[in-house]
Amino acid sequence: PHPPPHVLVLFGATGDLAKRKLFPGLAKLQAAGRLPEDYRVIGSGRHSPGTDDEFRDQVREALEDLDDEAVDALLERTSFQTSSADDGSDLAEAVRAAEEELGDDARRLVYLSVPPAAMQDMIAMLGREGITERARLVVEKPFGLDLESSQRLDAALKDVVDEDQVFRIDHFLGKEAVQNILALRFSNRLFEPAWDRESVAEVQIDVPETLGMEGRGSFYEATGCLRDMVSTHLGQLLGFVAMEDPHTLDEQALRDAKVAALEALRPFDKEHAVFGQYAGYRDEDDVDEDSDVETFVALTAYVDTDRWRDVPFHLRTGKKLAETRRTVTLRFRPPESQLLDGEPVPNDLVLELTDDPEMSVELNAKRPGPDLVLAPATMTVDLVEEIEDAEPLEAYERLLLDVLRGDQTLFTRADEVDALWRACQPLLDDPPEVQPYDAGSWGPQAAVDLPERGWRLGG
Ligand code: BG6
Repeated sequence: PHPPPHVLVLFGATGDLAKRKLFPGLAKLQAAGRLPEDYRVIGSGRHSPGTDDEFRDQVREALEDLDDEAVDALLERTSFQTSSADDGSDLAEAVRAAEEELGDDARRLVYLSVPPAAMQDMIAMLGREGITERARLVVEKPFGLDLESSQRLDAALKDVVDEDQVFRIDHFLGKEAVQNILALRFSNRLFEPAWDRESVAEVQIDVPETLGMEGRGSFYEATGCLRDMVSTHLGQLLGFVAMEDPHTLDEQALRDAKVAALEALRPFDKEHAVFGQYAGYRDEDDVDEDSDVETFVALTAYVDTDRWRDVPFHLRTGKKLAETRRTVTLRFRPPESQLLDGEPVPNDLVLELTDDPEMSVELNAKRPGPDLVLAPATMTVDLVEEIEDAEPLEAYERLLLDVLRGDQTLFTRADEVDALWRACQPLLDDPPEVQPYDAGSWGPQAAVDLPERGWRLGG
């Protein structure tokens, strides 16, 4: 069944996210017949991109490789209306006019892709103008800039909407491979009994990126890597890996289990954290020439639950690194006895969280031949190729669909956001010194040395 008719309002409609993910996501959902039968998309922002036709032409450029018919159908329903935190009356008018065309059961989806500093005033405007009525609000990360501002932002939200209208988006949770952690862990007797400190020596959550600023200098200057990636995507990944069995998949159970793990995080410790900045960052557009903003973070986290006590979770991410990967590795302890000659490799269970998710396990096998000697062997599964009728959805596509369906399971709750800010707060209050690193490297040397037995990636 199609979702009910919708008016979708996209703030930041001329920005990078809209161009790279939101409009393509909508066009693909349209092509797959998953959008409402009728809907309107109203792009909004402070500056007009020109006439509606000019706006549609700009959007079309971002949709070049997609199904023409779907793109036409989407653009036919798309227009632009300027608005700002001070003045949203024209936008409110446009929303009501669109709604009238759609009929009484129309719902509203308001997507707030605006920087954290602008969020609160925008939300107040939406409330003032009545745009929040019957609306679901999608709020982009980072949610606030620290614990205090995040709590203020949440209070501002609750002034205008109820929690069941709030969709705090963290698009990593829309990635197939992240959801696959649930299937892997809780539906395989092979893994679940081994998913704890008895068997696992350490966990690595490693998300290096080759990308640099891509025109996002001013966003990044106000945000930095810890807030952009660690208090959000990497923290959420950690929650998925570390949580207890939620037993059911309803919205509450899953998020309760995740928040319990996040609340058990030991606050991050400066002694086990490395901040870096790539050479050349200060020359990027909209970046201060003396900027101390970190473009790289590596740190060791601990989850103080019976399951994980004292198991290091090594987290690493940064811009302009040697590779783009999104990898979760569970490194298992060595075997208790050793029968065969040769040094066993650690059983790394490696999850590649790409759109084409892959999973592998490092095993010790016998080297075929006359002697009983060990040799490493890798077992690899391509989770799209291997599975019949796979219909993988890109993360934003999946999450936009969930908002249209009103399903909050894969969205973050205020208590999770708070728990992650609490863990980050010591590093926000008293950050480690930012160390330089070369573009194309694996970050500062101190970070390379962080895990006692090295990183799975990069050497
Ligand atoms: C975004 C960050 O949320 O995630 C970017 O703001 C980052 O800095 C991006 O590059 C990575 O997402 P993905 O899906 O490409 O791994």
